Amino acid sequence: MNRFCLVCQNVDCKSRGSEEIMKDLQERVAAKGLEDVEVRSYMCFGACQEGPNMVLYPDRFWYAGVKSEDLDDIVEHMAGGPAVDRLDKIDPSLKELIYQLLDTGVF
Ligand code: FES
Repeated sequence: MNRFCLVCQNVDCKSRGSEEIMKDLQERVAAKGLEDVEVRSYMCFGACQEGPNMVLYPDRFWYAGVKSEDLDDIVEHMAGGPAVDRLDKIDPSLKELIYQLLDTGVF
Protein backbone atom coordinates (compact mmCIF):
# COMPACT_ATOMS: atom_id res chain seq x y z
CA MET A 1 0.00 0.00 0.00
CA ASN A 2 1.20 3.48 -0.85
CA ARG A 3 1.88 6.02 1.84
CA PHE A 4 1.19 9.67 1.29
CA CYS A 5 2.60 12.91 2.56
CA LEU A 6 -0.11 15.46 1.88
CA VAL A 7 1.17 19.02 1.85
CA CYS A 8 -1.36 21.85 2.07
CA GLN A 9 -1.19 24.22 -0.89
CA ASN A 10 -3.94 26.61 0.06
CA VAL A 11 -3.42 30.35 0.47
CA ASP A 12 -2.22 30.57 4.07
CA CYS A 13 0.18 27.66 3.92
CA LYS A 14 1.47 28.87 0.56
CA SER A 15 2.12 32.31 2.00
CA ARG A 16 4.33 30.56 4.57
CA GLY A 17 6.33 28.72 1.93
CA SER A 18 4.51 25.42 1.46
CA GLU A 19 5.12 25.38 -2.28
CA GLU A 20 8.89 25.34 -1.85
CA ILE A 21 8.60 22.93 1.08
CA MET A 22 6.63 20.43 -1.01
CA LYS A 23 9.10 20.61 -3.88
CA ASP A 24 12.05 20.26 -1.52
CA LEU A 25 10.39 17.33 0.24
CA GLN A 26 9.68 15.55 -3.06
CA GLU A 27 13.37 15.80 -3.94
CA ARG A 28 14.51 14.56 -0.53
CA VAL A 29 12.07 11.62 -0.55
CA ALA A 30 13.34 10.63 -4.02
CA ALA A 31 16.98 11.01 -2.93
CA LYS A 32 16.30 8.79 0.07
CA GLY A 33 14.78 6.14 -2.20
CA LEU A 34 11.44 6.06 -0.40
CA GLU A 35 9.51 4.63 -3.32
CA ASP A 36 6.39 3.85 -1.30
CA VAL A 37 5.91 7.49 -0.25
CA GLU A 38 4.07 9.89 -2.54
CA VAL A 39 4.34 13.58 -1.69
CA ARG A 40 1.31 15.37 -3.07
CA SER A 41 -0.66 18.55 -2.58
CA TYR A 42 -3.77 18.85 -0.44
CA MET A 43 -6.47 21.53 -0.58
CA CYS A 44 -6.63 22.60 3.11
CA PHE A 45 -6.60 20.89 6.49
CA GLY A 46 -8.49 23.65 8.31
CA ALA A 47 -5.59 24.70 10.54
CA CYS A 48 -4.54 27.55 8.29
CA GLN A 49 -2.90 29.67 11.00
CA GLU A 50 -0.59 26.79 11.96
CA GLY A 51 0.91 26.15 8.54
CA PRO A 52 2.67 25.06 6.55
CA ASN A 53 0.82 21.85 7.36
CA MET A 54 1.46 18.33 6.15
CA VAL A 55 -0.14 15.00 7.03
CA LEU A 56 1.40 11.56 6.70
CA TYR A 57 -1.28 9.10 5.74
CA PRO A 58 -2.14 6.34 6.52
CA ASP A 59 0.59 6.78 9.16
CA ARG A 60 -1.58 9.46 10.81
CA PHE A 61 0.95 12.11 11.73
CA TRP A 62 0.33 15.81 11.29
CA TYR A 63 3.25 18.18 11.13
CA ALA A 64 2.53 21.89 11.55
CA GLY A 65 4.63 24.99 11.10
CA VAL A 66 7.07 23.03 8.97
CA LYS A 67 10.24 24.78 7.85
CA SER A 68 12.81 23.54 5.37
CA GLU A 69 15.21 22.77 8.23
CA ASP A 70 12.63 20.26 9.55
CA LEU A 71 12.51 18.22 6.35
CA ASP A 72 15.49 15.97 7.10
CA ASP A 73 13.85 14.84 10.35
CA ILE A 74 10.51 14.29 8.59
CA VAL A 75 12.15 12.18 5.88
CA GLU A 76 13.90 10.17 8.58
CA HIS A 77 10.52 9.56 10.19
CA MET A 78 9.13 8.35 6.86
CA ALA A 79 12.12 6.01 6.61
CA GLY A 80 11.32 4.44 9.97
CA GLY A 81 12.90 6.89 12.38
CA PRO A 82 11.21 8.63 15.30
CA ALA A 83 8.27 10.98 14.88
CA VAL A 84 9.15 14.67 14.99
CA ASP A 85 7.31 15.59 18.17
CA ARG A 86 8.17 19.30 18.09
CA LEU A 87 5.96 19.68 14.99
CA ASP A 88 2.99 17.87 16.54
CA LYS A 89 1.01 21.00 17.48
CA ILE A 90 -2.53 20.42 16.25
CA ASP A 91 -5.53 19.83 18.48
CA PRO A 92 -6.24 16.07 18.67
CA SER A 93 -9.92 16.47 17.78
CA LEU A 94 -9.09 18.31 14.54
CA LYS A 95 -6.47 15.71 13.71
CA GLU A 96 -8.99 12.93 14.20
CA LEU A 97 -11.54 14.73 12.01
CA ILE A 98 -9.05 15.04 9.15
CA TYR A 99 -7.85 11.43 9.53
CA GLN A 100 -11.44 10.24 9.35
CA LEU A 101 -12.00 12.36 6.24
CA LEU A 102 -8.91 10.85 4.65
CA ASP A 103 -10.17 7.37 5.60
CA THR A 104 -13.12 8.01 3.28
CA GLY A 105 -10.68 8.43 0.40
CA VAL A 106 -11.23 12.17 -0.11
CA PHE A 107 -7.82 13.30 -1.30
S1 FES B 1 -4.23 26.90 4.21
FE1 FES B 1 -3.10 25.15 4.87
S2 FES B 1 -4.39 24.27 6.37
FE2 FES B 1 -5.62 25.80 5.46
